Amino acid sequence: MTSIRSVIRGVGAYLPERILTNDEISQRLDTSDSWIQERTGIKSRHIAAEGEMTSDLGIKAAKSALVRAGIDPVDIDLLICATATPDRTFPSTAVRIQHAIGMTKGAAFDVQAVCSGFVFAMATADNFIRTGQSKRALVVGAETFSRILDWEDRGTCVLFGDGAGAVVLEAQNQQGTNDDRGVLATRLRSDGRFEDLLYVDGGPSSTQTTGYLRMNGREVFRHAIQKISGVIEETLLASGLAAEEIDLFVPHQANARILDGIAKKLGVAPEKVIKTLDRHGNTSAASIPLALNQAFEAHKLSEGDLVLMEAMGGGFTWGAVLARW
Ligand code: ACO
Repeated sequence: MTSIRSVIRGVGAYLPERILTNDEISQRLDTSDSWIQERTGIKSRHIAAEGEMTSDLGIKAAKSALVRAGIDPVDIDLLICATATPDRTFPSTAVRIQHAIGMTKGAAFDVQAVCSGFVFAMATADNFIRTGQSKRALVVGAETFSRILDWEDRGTCVLFGDGAGAVVLEAQNQQGTNDDRGVLATRLRSDGRFEDLLYVDGGPSSTQTTGYLRMNGREVFRHAIQKISGVIEETLLASGLAAEEIDLFVPHQANARILDGIAKKLGVAPEKVIKTLDRHGNTSAASIPLALNQAFEAHKLSEGDLVLMEAMGGGFTWGAVLARW
């Protein structure tokens, strides 16, 4: 029996010009390049210019993905932007991107699942496509975390960066087997009991301020490997595929030790793991499409490759997407 699949037609990304190195941060704060690299794997990150907004990054990434897909924006009927750092409280960053790229039909909305945002947005778009509500979707992950960091808090400000990535998904009829191209399985999870381990201490309804990111890094770390490995197992089980069959592992870029721990637990060889956090830091919802874009540009993605994406973020939220390129 044939199935409608969400086939990835194109990927694009954008990083702000300004690069902030660990050494620069150590000139202002009691930290060091060696501490940051040893504990996280991060060497530098990109920071948005004054006045450069999340939508500006998202628009550039979206346009690049559309060009690579060879798809006209007027043919896109769904735009989902995953972001925790919207330009405004409302309207959504997605409608600003929609307007800028010249998308005139369908719907655009934001998804808020912090670092898991891209995985949540992919799963949502895939469900719209598989039920026939959407034919071509643009999924964007865009963030300016530099704007919600407490630059006096060395425990958090060294970890994050700004950037955006995007993919174009298209509904295609496939055989309905694991050899199909496109999204094969997705699994999403959240558990609000862990809200206080990673949050922003402001918001329109609470403080009427934007607030700053607060995190208990050690506790987040403790949960990460176990929760992410669990949802990957569920996703593989749902697809009937095994970890040995994964050609490329494109994880959310939070911390090299988390990535390595998950890859080891899964039995995925280091050369199959895409790592960008050394130069991007943690770009939250943008990190997976940025990493996917880097893999594409480095010719590491071939048609038929099995790609595993996963993330965990504030909430907690976590999830995985398994797709064939
Ligand atoms: N430079 C120097 N020292 C530092 C720094 C820094 N940038 N940050 C913290 N320290 C100090 C602390 O003050 C503490 O000092 P103390 O012992 O004198 O009190 C010491 O280092 C140890 O602090 P911990 O927080 O216990 O350090 P840890 O080894 O856990 O590393 C880190 C901290 C890197 C944040 C780690 O906990 C981590 O990566 N956690 C995962 C968090 C994460 O990735 N969050 C991203 C969002 S969620 C996600 O995407 C999965």
